[in-house]
Amino acid sequence: VGDSLREALDRASQRQRLHMPGHFGIVPPGGEGLPWALDQTEVEGLDSLSDPRAVLRGLAGRAAAAFGATHAWLSVQGATLPVMAGTLATAPHGSVIAADRIAHRSVLAAAVVGRYQVRWVAGIWDEHWQLWLPAPLGAWESALNGARLAIATVPTYEGLARSPAELAAAGHRRAVPLFVDAAHGSHWGRAPGLPPHVLAQGADLVAHGLHKTEPVLTQTGLLLTGAWNPGPRLEEWWRRLSTSSPSYPLLASIERYVTERAAGDGGWQAFAADMRDVWTMARRLGFRVLQAEWEEHGGVADPAKLTLMGDGPALAARLRGLGAEPESVGLASLTLIVGPSAGMDPQRWERLLAGLGPPPPARHHGALPAPGAMRLAPFEADLAGWRRIQLREAAGHVAARALTPYPPGIPAVLPGEEISACMRDWLAHHGEAGLHVEGLDPGAEGGTLWIVD
Ligand SMILES: Cc1ncc(COP(=O)(O)O)c(C=O)c1O
Repeated sequence: VGDSLREALDRASQRQRLHMPGHFGIVPPGGEGLPWALDQTEVEGLDSLSDPRAVLRGLAGRAAAAFGATHAWLSVQGATLPVMAGTLATAPHGSVIAADRIAHRSVLAAAVVGRYQVRWVAGIWDEHWQLWLPAPLGAWESALNGARLAIATVPTYEGLARSPAELAAAGHRRAVPLFVDAAHGSHWGRAPGLPPHVLAQGADLVAHGLHKTEPVLTQTGLLLTGAWNPGPRLEEWWRRLSTSSPSYPLLASIERYVTERAAGDGGWQAFAADMRDVWTMARRLGFRVLQAEWEEHGGVADPAKLTLMGDGPALAARLRGLGAEPESVGLASLTLIVGPSAGMDPQRWERLLAGLGPPPPARHHGALPAPGAMRLAPFEADLAGWRRIQLREAAGHVAARALTPYPPGIPAVLPGEEISACMRDWLAHHGEAGLHVEGLDPGAEGGTLWIVD
């Protein structure tokens, strides 16, 4: 297994490169500052990402150890590859799975490929914040009976969770493995003041998007397992879905991070304490802070997120006026992602929060209607004939594609779901307000969409 990936890359860079990629490690004009030298391919001395036997196998072993996992698979396809490969390897083709209604679209993609019958577990749409809160345990209980896999999003985009340990226990009582999509929870467990890592809370499989909250290059991720062994199908699905041209600069950034993580807390303990002071500071200035409220109600909240209530677009405009860019702009909120590397100190927070306030009241966009009846599984909707119709004719029809308002980026209608008259009106209202709905093509009279014929 031998030396580190970085050493192997440095050695390989000293040779005349007569192989892909086409820049051969030589900085092209205008490319200064980019990691050309590290951009290698799977040549002698490096390794194969889909069948690691040398430096990448060593790196995967060190990554597993740094997270307290038994095995780690390295991803240069974000958390999307871990979610899809983990799901398809675990739940047999055509089986029943239980999945969070707030799941990322990679879960939907796996559900189509795996031809699953999906029991969607609904979260709670909060009228005031106009965003999704995690589903209560009771909503999972019935969905778990007879399922072959449960997939939960922990934490949510805004850093909220209920107890993953209770969900894992509920699954294990029924012999259902729990796959936690912790794309936003790579840093959990690194220090007191952060929630424990989801593996330590009983998850069987975990997907991380490393770049979301940790200093690692975009498009890096991990799949982790604990004591539970998903068997050879995981290797097979990983290989089927992986790129055969992995990026070594991305892998080298994973190695840098794994070394840092094994050495200490990366400043997270002090950061977690400081962020709770920032929550207090924001509240003193008149803001409602989602994470602080969630924690006060007994939930688990991530200090790396700060969600303020108010007219999201207006808050974002003020923030940009102060020279900062938010992570996401909600209808009634603004979410920032921070961490020890963000370089924010109390004085900068004070200036920023004072400049944002007083909170502009949110415009109300109406209660999100309850989901319509699920008529077809996502794969059945995919295989059916599709027809384009006007939104005004949509009530009673079954959606062929997801209809996803941005924000919050979670489908209001899933493929295979019946579109109710209330949902049609709500979508029309979104369009009139100039809000973007993915899957709804703009046009006269509210636009058009694809339905199952
Ligand atoms: C909950 C969740 N899971 C998975 C993903 C996919 O991660 P990536 O974009 O790194 O592939 C995302 C991305 O936003 C996400 O929010």
